[in-house]
Amino acid sequence: MEIIELEHPLSQHYLTILRDKNTTFETFRLAASKLSYLLIIEATKELQLDDKEIETPLIPTSGKELSSNTVAVSVLRAGLGLIDGPKDLIPNMTFGYIGVQRNEETAEPENYYENLPEVKDKDIFILEPMLATGGSLSYAIDTVKKYNPRKIYALTVISSPEGIKYISDKHPDITLLTGSVDEKLNENFYIIPGLGDMGDRLFGTV
Ligand code: URA
Repeated sequence: MEIIELEHPLSQHYLTILRDKNTTFETFRLAASKLSYLLIIEATKELQLDDKEIETPLIPTSGKELSSNTVAVSVLRAGLGLIDGPKDLIPNMTFGYIGVQRNEETAEPENYYENLPEVKDKDIFILEPMLATGGSLSYAIDTVKKYNPRKIYALTVISSPEGIKYISDKHPDITLLTGSVDEKLNENFYIIPGLGDMGDRLFGTV
């Protein structure tokens, strides 16, 4: 599995805002949104282009236009926090949603919702901000793979070493983009140092 950890100063800046327990949920949402632009820019570096002949106000010239077909799939609910970058930057992107919840006792994923656009032969960007045990992300990847995508990218804000190992064992063919690889999981499967519960902090729930 290819792993790309963002090194851009802006990503480190916004990540620190996300980690800070004193960040209000409004500011938290904004920082997650900004980070989503940085993640999707890095993730889409290899999108395919076609040549396009155009005319500037001065002369004919040749340019490029995107030929890749792309889909962003949010893992509910925290994945909603990373939609802005893909939505605003990528032309003609379509959106899907997978509801996976973690059983608090076993930490095993359970599906409660699936709504995907056409996935076959497309580049899929799965938005799953916290790669903890890897159970939910792996579940989402398995779901998408059933529909024969061209390539799958997973975008996370923070990843645990345990989650990375789990995903790379199960899905060596994907590319993972992450804001940070953190130290470890604690006994409740939270990432340390992490940022707490991403969904709660995005939406102001407790
Ligand atoms: N999900 C979260 O929101 N935070 C963690 O630390 C782990 C899983």
